[in-house]
This record gives sequence, C-alpha cells and structure tokens, in this order.
Amino acid sequence: MANFRECGLSEFIDARLADAHDLVKQLKGPFDFVFSDADKEWYKQYFIDVAPKLEIGGCFTAHNVYGRRRGYGGIGEYVEYILSLKNFETTFNTDGGGVAISYKRAEK
Ligand SMILES: C[S@@+](CC[C@H](N)C(=O)[O-])C[C@H]1O[C@@H](n2cnc3c(N)ncnc32)[C@H](O)[C@@H]1O
Repeated sequence: MANFRECGLSEFIDARLADAHDLVKQLKGPFDFVFSDADKEWYKQYFIDVAPKLEIGGCFTAHNVYGRRRGYGGIGEYVEYILSLKNFETTFNTDGGGVAISYKRAEK
C-alpha cells in the first residue's frame, strides 16, 4: 500500500491479501478487465467465478497460456474451456509466456 500511496494511485487500487480461491468468489464486480496470473490449475475456476460479473464488452485475460506452458497445470483445460464458449471471443498474444484475451460479447 505504501508503494501505491507513493505513486499517487491508492485511491484507485483495492489491494487484498487472501486466498484467491475464496476471495474471487466473493468479489461483487462488475469488472471491465481482469488479469489472471495466479495458480494455473485454478484458471478455469477463476474464470467461472468472474465471467458472470464481467461487463459485456469486457475482457478476461490469462497469462502463460502459450508455448511450453500450454500443457502446464490446468492451462490446457482452461484454453479448451474458453474456446468452447459462444459468448466469448478469445485471441492469443504470443509474446513472452502468452496471454489469452477473452472478450465477452454476450451474457450467454
Ligand atoms: C506468476 S506470480 C504473479 C506475478 C504478478 N503478475 C507480477 O507481475 O508480479 C503468481 C502469484 O500468484 C500467487 N498465488 C498463487 N495461488 C494463489 C492463491 N490461491 N491465492 C492468492 N495468491 C496466489 C503466488 O503466490 C504468486 O505470487
């Protein structure tokens, strides 16, 4: 929090220390942008918990979905899942570890 204050950004940042498996389910939203970079085997569940609270036109992004990471933890399952959703359009940025960018185009 001291760093956020020093940068003059503390009024825009709500930082919480918790187990994200529990916290993410409790967050109310709505969100227009989400970046996921925690435990890869939980990516699909984070997405499932957040997707209903994402605004139409918003994006859910996930890091390390490309290259050698593709088969790591739950990444393969996550990518397969988001590509199966008709209400999300997903593209991939392949720089670095790769980022999946899933744009929400409809509620269902
Ligand atoms: C790859 S690092 C994130 C790096 C971050 N994006 C950055 O640029 O500094 C993954 C982080 O997720 C945290 N993490 C993993 N599982 C978590 C969980 N269930 N709850 C909260 N944090 C978790 C790890 O402790 C680690 O700090």
